[in-house]
Amino acid sequence: MDRFVIEGPTRLEGELEVGGAKNAVLPLMAAALLARGDSIIQNVPDLHDVRFFMTILEGLGATCSLVGGELRLGTAEAEGREASYDLVRKMRASIYVLGPLLAFQGEAFVSLPGGCAWGPRPVNLHLEGMAALGAEIALERGYIHARVPRGGLRGGRFRFEPVSVGGTCNVLMAAVLARGETVLENCAIEPEVTALAIGLRDAGAVIEGIGTPTLRIQGPVTLRPLQQTVIADRIEAGTFMAGVALAGGRVRLTGVDTVHLDPITAVLREMGCAITEEPGAITIAADGRPVATEIITRPYPGFPTDMQAQLMAVCAVADGTSFISEGIYADRFTHVAELQRLGADIRVDGARATIFGVPKLQGAPVMASDLRASAALVLAGVAAEGTTIVNRVYHIDRGYECIEERLASLGARIRRESV
Ligand code: EPZ
Repeated sequence: MDRFVIEGPTRLEGELEVGGAKNAVLPLMAAALLARGDSIIQNVPDLHDVRFFMTILEGLGATCSLVGGELRLGTAEAEGREASYDLVRKMRASIYVLGPLLAFQGEAFVSLPGGCAWGPRPVNLHLEGMAALGAEIALERGYIHARVPRGGLRGGRFRFEPVSVGGTCNVLMAAVLARGETVLENCAIEPEVTALAIGLRDAGAVIEGIGTPTLRIQGPVTLRPLQQTVIADRIEAGTFMAGVALAGGRVRLTGVDTVHLDPITAVLREMGCAITEEPGAITIAADGRPVATEIITRPYPGFPTDMQAQLMAVCAVADGTSFISEGIYADRFTHVAELQRLGADIRVDGARATIFGVPKLQGAPVMASDLRASAALVLAGVAAEGTTIVNRVYHIDRGYECIEERLASLGARIRRESV
């Protein structure tokens, strides 16, 4: 098991290219199952979650290779219909194969995903959406058993409540092969969802309203294999921006879509960061303590929940009292106790955290728990005085490629140790 050893405080200076978005790659990988042939996806980061999803697809009979950011998925022999508990329990996004298997194979056996570090993660919207397309859904010994009715899936109407990124992706992938018109309302419009819809449309799907909360799909179609380049990871970019706000310095990030960063940029500017934008790049500079802020996490284009932990680390050293309400998940605060070990003064009341800014954090051993909470602890360690040890960094490797090398290239004193 690896851990990071971080000596602080250091400032972050330099330039970094942001990688492809994990949360855009995974649904595109699942969508490859909707066509026969070789899908090619470019700008793919080499992440544990991507490698793991490749394993899932290989278990279904697909061939997968990832070389130099190019992911090739061959589905000519992909006849499998089951995603086992042993796989799905390790990565919730495995459920993305449900829609494509149901629509393309006519039947799917997918284990119900477990919870995660911060609580239950229901999939009722995925199932209700498939049922709206005529699917017969049964829960059997911890598995979702989904079958298409005689004649295949048929177009239907479904409204997501609440907004669901995964639910939108899964039901959209099933709907493109359904016979007739499907109308999906209150869809997620995260850039990663829009990227999936664009990928499907480029492969022959008939989808109107892409980028809006209402998607209108005409089917069935025969999809061509996907050919897509993955959008930049707005959460990875935001994480490095939060690092500069927290530790101080000046960093230019390239390969980004600045529009996707708007909700994050707005908050960090309010906190006193100087941020300049240019086509495909963003530069953030910060000195001294950030200004306290108040945010509620919301579906896009609101402030992203996947940046909540990182922002809380910034608020921990802000000049004043900040308030963070988690509007998406009831209890996504596993990072609070660990930030408190570093000297942060935080009080949690339900889904709302009050952060009393302190001048400096103090290095200490801490425990990573989930992907984004772990990233927040690493950023806090860069800014803290003394040595911070972040244990269980496999959480971070799921969604950040070589984060220690990238932070070190900006001046952080961080090394990985195997223990
Ligand atoms: C996606 O998860 C992301 N994961 C998450 O990022 C992200 O936090 C989340 O969207 C919200 O933006 C991937 O894209 C792989 P949801 P997802 O369905 O699809 C409730 C990361 O760090 N809900 O949009 O699982 C749910 O409980 C990860 O990269 C239902 O009630 O999230 C939550 O309160 C962590 N029923 C809300 O909707 C359902 O059937 C939003 O969840 C589905 C969801």
